[in-house]
Amino acid sequence: MGLEQIRKVCVVGAGVMGSGITQVFAQAGYSVVMVDVAEEFIQKGMASIKANLERSVAKGRMSKEDAEAVLGRIKTTLNLEEAGKEADFVVEAVVERMDVKREVFSRLDKACESHVILASNTSTLSITEMASATQRPDRVAGMHFFNPAPVMKLVEVIAGAKTSRETISTVKALAEKLGKTPVEVKESPGFVVNRLLTLMLNEACFLLMEDVAKPEDIDTAMKLGCNHPMGPFELMDLVGLDIVLAIAETLYQETGDPKFRPSPLLRKMVRAGLLGRKTGQGFYVYGKK
Ligand code: 3HC
Repeated sequence: MGLEQIRKVCVVGAGVMGSGITQVFAQAGYSVVMVDVAEEFIQKGMASIKANLERSVAKGRMSKEDAEAVLGRIKTTLNLEEAGKEADFVVEAVVERMDVKREVFSRLDKACESHVILASNTSTLSITEMASATQRPDRVAGMHFFNPAPVMKLVEVIAGAKTSRETISTVKALAEKLGKTPVEVKESPGFVVNRLLTLMLNEACFLLMEDVAKPEDIDTAMKLGCNHPMGPFELMDLVGLDIVLAIAETLYQETGDPKFRPSPLLRKMVRAGLLGRKTGQGFYVYGKK
């Protein structure tokens, strides 16, 4: 399917990434249906989109009418099949678990018209494995946005083993239409950004475990020493410690390389539910959620 045929987009998952991606598509003029499994997730996702749009209006970047029009292009549902049936393009942004992703892809494959591209926003998992749950592996690709999706310019476009050139071209063109810069990547654990970034984030946890410096000082060091917009602990709190751990686990399991072994501190914090901003506490405290 070519870019010009895409009008209605289905985003599966209303979490931090799913709601951000929904906002990006709606701002680019697409009609979007955002799907999740429970009304409370939908409500939370919509609240975040509304807060972002209100901030844009308050800062004079968007008119009130435009913000309302963006909201007017977003519909929500709990019914994946219904949303899939209507869609010209799908982006999946559910939990980073292959069993869940494969089930979503299998259901989408049955619900969506056969020409529709099914894309995954996975941070690190195999596109080929998701594609093998469908009858259209040539029309399955990675479309990896970065957090916060409305702000970050990069989209990694990932080809699985059977993804066609046409699919990759369409996803790249679509990313450009959204105002993003696509980078084409062949399937490999962590793709480009997370393979590099995870080493740094995980190593910051080892520095902390070894009591080499305080989190604030490690963050300051990387912000002022490398011009990073956020230090590693601030960034892990933004991305979610569970996500960082899941990426490190995948990199470690897939490559067998000990350089990717997750830090015990990261594991312990995830087990304690200290996931970062989304739970109100990670390396820093953000108030009750
Ligand atoms: N949603 C939408 N917009 C947001 C936002 C959010 N969550 N957070 C900030 N913004 C917008 C603000 O409205 C502001 O817009 P404006 O300048 O046009 O008014 C702009 O971003 C800058 O925000 P702030 O002034 O509040 O704060 P900063 O200047 O500190 O910028 C930041 C915030 C953009 C998040 C910046 O700190 C940053 O770039 N941090 C690094 C983010 C990063 O590395 N992300 C990638 C993580 S890895 C990943 O996502 C991969 C995944 O697979 C794990």
